[in-house]
Amino acid sequence: MKTNLIVFGTRPEAIKMAPLVLAFKSNLEFNTNICVTAQHREMLDQVLEFFEIVPDYDLNVMKPNQNLYGLTATIIEEMKIVLEDAQPDYVYVHGDTTTSMAVGIAAFYYGAKVCHVEAGLRTYDRKYPFPEEFNRQLTGKIADYHFAPTLLSKNNLLQENIKEQNVIVTGNTVIDALLIGIEKVNTNEFKDSEIENLKLILDFQKKIILVTGHRRENHGQGLLNICIALKTIAEQNKDVQIIYPVHLNPNVEKPVYELLSGISNIILVKPLAYAAFIWLMEKSYLIITDSGGIQEEAPSLGKPVLVTRNTTERPEAVEESTVLLVGTDAQKIINETQKLISDKEFYNGMSMLHNPYGDGKASFRIIDYIKKL
Ligand code: UD1
Ligand code: UDP
Repeated sequence: MKTNLIVFGTRPEAIKMAPLVLAFKSNLEFNTNICVTAQHREMLDQVLEFFEIVPDYDLNVMKPNQNLYGLTATIIEEMKIVLEDAQPDYVYVHGDTTTSMAVGIAAFYYGAKVCHVEAGLRTYDRKYPFPEEFNRQLTGKIADYHFAPTLLSKNNLLQENIKEQNVIVTGNTVIDALLIGIEKVNTNEFKDSEIENLKLILDFQKKIILVTGHRRENHGQGLLNICIALKTIAEQNKDVQIIYPVHLNPNVEKPVYELLSGISNIILVKPLAYAAFIWLMEKSYLIITDSGGIQEEAPSLGKPVLVTRNTTERPEAVEESTVLLVGTDAQKIINETQKLISDKEFYNGMSMLHNPYGDGKASFRIIDYIKKL
C-alpha cells in the first residue's frame, strides 16, 4: 500500500488541503498521514477544528513576528525527522507559502514524489507577491506531479517545460472546501458562537463591506493607504458597515487597530473561523481584500471583489469582471467602492454567480490521478 504525507502550515493551505485530507482518509487504498508545520497557530487550529482533522505530526514552528530565514530553516530540519518516520511515497504540498517551498525541498532530499496542489499560478514578478511568486516557482521546479486549478495555470507550467503527462487540470480545492463548509453551516444542528455574535454586532439593513488584508508587500505604506480609504468610505457612507477580521500578523494588527479603532461604522474583529467567515461573505455587499483564497471563493457567492494589489496570479475572475484590481492607492479604492455602492448597473455586472476556479471535485481528480500512476 502506498503512503501519503499531506503537509500544510497556514490557514489558507489548511482550508484548501482539508477536502483532500478527508477524501484520502476515507480511501482505504492509501495509508495517509497528516503533518502540520503550524507556520500559523491559532488561525490553523480554527480550520483543523472545523474540518475535524487531527494531525499525525505537528511541528509547532510559529514564533511571534517570525522571519523567513528562521522559518525556512526550521521547517526543513524538522521535516527530516517526520519524513524518516512516516516514510511517504508521495508528499503533498499546497500553493506558495514558506511551508510549501521548504517541505518541497525536504521531500525532494528524502526522495519522495512531490505532488503540488494549486500548481502553476504565476505573476512572473518575483516581488509581487513576495515571497509567494518565488515559492511557487521553486515548488514547481521540485514537484513531480502538478495539480493545476485552471487551464491557464496548466499552460504556465507547459511553457516552463514541465512534461504534459505530469500536469492535470483539477479545479481548485478551495471550491471543494467551500461546498463542504456551506453544507455544514446550513445544517440545523450547526451552532456557532461567532455567527451568533456577528448577528448581534452587524446591522443587516446596511450594506456590509467585508475587508481583509495581509500581503507582505502591502505592509507599511500600502496598508496605511488602505486604512485611509476605509476611514473615508465609512465617513462618507453612514448606511454602510465595514467589518474587518484583522490578520494576527503584528505588521497588520498594529497599524489597523491604531488607524481604524473608534469609528462607529468600522468593526474590527479577530480572524474569524472558516464557518463564520463564509457565512459573513454570503451576507456581504462587497469584499475588499488582498487575499488569494477570497478572490477564488467570492465568485461562487456572487460577491464583487476589489483586490488591493497591482497584479494577480488569478486573472480568470478579473477577465470575467467579478474581480477588479484597485492596488493600494487610497483614492482609487474610494472611487471604485463608491461606484459599487451607488451604481447598480456596475454592481450587477460584478456580482455574477459563476466561478472559473472549480466545480468542487478537485480532490477526487487528484486522487484518481495518483491511483492511476
Ligand atoms: C503567510 C504566508 C502567505 C499567506 C498567509 C495567509 C508565507 C511567507 N506567507 O503570511 O503566503 O498568504 O500566510 O494568511 O508563507 N500569527 C499569529 N497567529 C497565527 C498566524 C500568524 O500570531 O495563527 C502572527 C505571528 O506573529 C507570525 C506572523 O503572524 O509570526 C506572520 O505569520 P507568517 O506565516 O510568517 O506570515 P503571514 O503574513 O501570515
Ligand atoms: N478566512 C477565514 N477567516 C478570516 C479570513 C479569511 O477563515 O477571518 C479564510 C477565507 O475564507 C479563505 C482563506 O481564509 O479561504 C484565505 O486566507 P488568507 O487570506 O489568510 O490567505 P491567502 O488566500 O491570501 O493565501
